[in-house]
Amino acid sequence: MIKTRKSLIAGNWKMHLSRKEAGELALAVRKGLDPDMKHEVLFAPSFTNLEAVRQAIHGSPILLAAQDVHWEDAGAYTGAVSPLQIKDAGCTHAIIGHSERRKIFLETDEIINKKLKSALKNSLFPVLCIGETLEEREQQKTYRVLQTQMQKAFLEIDAGSASKIVIAYEPVWAIGTGKTATPDQAQDAHVFIRKELERLYGENFATGFRILYGGSVKAENIDSLMAQPDIDGVLVGGESLKADKFLRIIHFRV
Ligand code: PGA
Repeated sequence: MIKTRKSLIAGNWKMHLSRKEAGELALAVRKGLDPDMKHEVLFAPSFTNLEAVRQAIHGSPILLAAQDVHWEDAGAYTGAVSPLQIKDAGCTHAIIGHSERRKIFLETDEIINKKLKSALKNSLFPVLCIGETLEEREQQKTYRVLQTQMQKAFLEIDAGSASKIVIAYEPVWAIGTGKTATPDQAQDAHVFIRKELERLYGENFATGFRILYGGSVKAENIDSLMAQPDIDGVLVGGESLKADKFLRIIHFRV
């Protein structure tokens, strides 16, 4: 199957690794990359590890992301990091609205919308995370939840700007639990998300838009996930911390 959308394999290293460990992991993955690889690879280390990883990937095609971004360019926001600072640290991308940010740090759809607008204004490519909890899935609310998260996230963002966003569909019940959505479940959700994008921005927009899957992605399930027509890549947590496993995921076979 030839996919027209360029695949993206992203590693979210969350609150793990020292500077040394992050630099070593980045270097090990860089060294193992297939030089003929046609898709994109992205690392999202902690803020404190951005510089070490930037140096390790310098001159390679690997992209650098922050795991979060504040909505203001500067100001009295203790503990926050602005889009200007993130760009200055070498990032081209920022993860926004990860379910851990939503749940633990109480980020609302309104905050996520502000962060998206700010990232886009500052020419950062956002990776917007959406997804339902187990309870919501069991109550047959998955589509409604995804629709609400999307409508609120994309509020007042025009098609030109929105086309810079990548969505990561991450069912909350599959994150860090070892329970992956089946390829069919993921494909179903991706089709729904693409339909919603079509409703918001039109068919051409939706056809070109990349939607990643995230939640317990591993070497053992990457090939069957990537074989789905609407899965354009993955956002990987735990398994992106091991160079050999992450390389196998990056070099998926379809
Ligand atoms: P996981 O995390 O791969 O460890 O489930 C995915 C994520 O949170 O992006």
